[in-house]
Amino acid sequence: MQSAFFDTPPDRIGQCSLKWGKYEDSDTIPLWVADMDFTSPPAVLEQAQVSAEHGNFGYGRPPPKLTERIVRRSEKLYNWSIDPNWIVWLPGMVCALNVTCRALLGESSQAIIQTPIYPPFLSASRNFDMPLTKVPLVLCDKRFSIDFDALAALETKPGDLFMLCHPHNPVGTLFNQDELSLLIEWLLERNLYLCSDEIHCDLILEKELKHLPPASLDPRISDRTITLMAPSKTFNIAGFGCSFAIIENSSLRVKFKKAMQGIVPDPPAMGFLLADAAYRGGEPWRMELLDYLKENRDYALSQLVEMDGLIPHSPEATYLMWIDARNLPVSNPHKFFEENGVGLSDGRDFDGSGFLRLNLGCSRKLLKEALSRMGTACEKLSNK
Ligand SMILES: Cc1ncc(COP(=O)(O)O)c(C=O)c1O
Repeated sequence: MQSAFFDTPPDRIGQCSLKWGKYEDSDTIPLWVADMDFTSPPAVLEQAQVSAEHGNFGYGRPPPKLTERIVRRSEKLYNWSIDPNWIVWLPGMVCALNVTCRALLGESSQAIIQTPIYPPFLSASRNFDMPLTKVPLVLCDKRFSIDFDALAALETKPGDLFMLCHPHNPVGTLFNQDELSLLIEWLLERNLYLCSDEIHCDLILEKELKHLPPASLDPRISDRTITLMAPSKTFNIAGFGCSFAIIENSSLRVKFKKAMQGIVPDPPAMGFLLADAAYRGGEPWRMELLDYLKENRDYALSQLVEMDGLIPHSPEATYLMWIDARNLPVSNPHKFFEENGVGLSDGRDFDGSGFLRLNLGCSRKLLKEALSRMGTACEKLSNK
């Protein structure tokens, strides 16, 4: 299906783009860092234009209507009633992961994460000398899930911090009700804190699946949870840093805010305005985006399964695809594909050596070209 929004994205060369700048001087297709090539929803572009014409770029503060919108949206999309006072604004999610570790320093004797995982989960606790325990995800019926046996065997102390990535980057799992209920029971039994990074929660590719924030499922876990959300990934406005934490427990919220003090700036005014525009008017665009991404995902799967040495994992959510390249007869799959004109993310950065992550947030045309290059490169290897 042709798409007016997504088939012809703007040229990002020369636009200070992290993703495209990396390969500016080569003919490599960048499918790495997690932003999309598309323009943001029309409502966001209109707001950006109005703000540019207004012409003042001084300090910002959150508009109350954005807070109200988030409260209503949360009720509608996740069946979760939140109080406006639970919201804490931040200029980014990586920053929020680090603030969480700083806030719980002294209380948490370890942070627990599930690998492979988005790299800042690997570094946040270490930045504060908090020991890190990695529990690998397990593959059940081609889907990555929580290893509950490994969790049962794990030594923990009350106050330790479990850092969940939900939906999970890079494997694309949207944890379901059963998984979350078991996880919540485990967390409660052991008196642990939960930090739930839900930045990808509005990018669910399967219509029958629904995002469930753990804090919405049980008041006892809400009392011990820092939930992190943002419109940045969904509406492609990550460059205007506007994110928020939702923390019901007031003493936990005070600790979190104290850990931010003097270090973490407020989001910029433009960040608030664009976030508000995205949540207000971005839904029709988001619905089309999900269809487009799903078609990109299915197309990529259909091509990658044919390539010798690669096993693609189908994401339920996110625009990221995790690919097992351990059977490819090369020592460095990331370098191999770069040399063959496709810039993917290297699994080693996610604690997933031998894997690659492919960003599906691009035009179908570009994706086709990248996959064709990958196919040719794999064919050359098999013919050697
Ligand atoms: C799970 C997850 N958390 C956080 C971030 C980064 O968020 P921010 O750019 O707001 O720091 C990303 C970006 O890819 C992500 O995938």
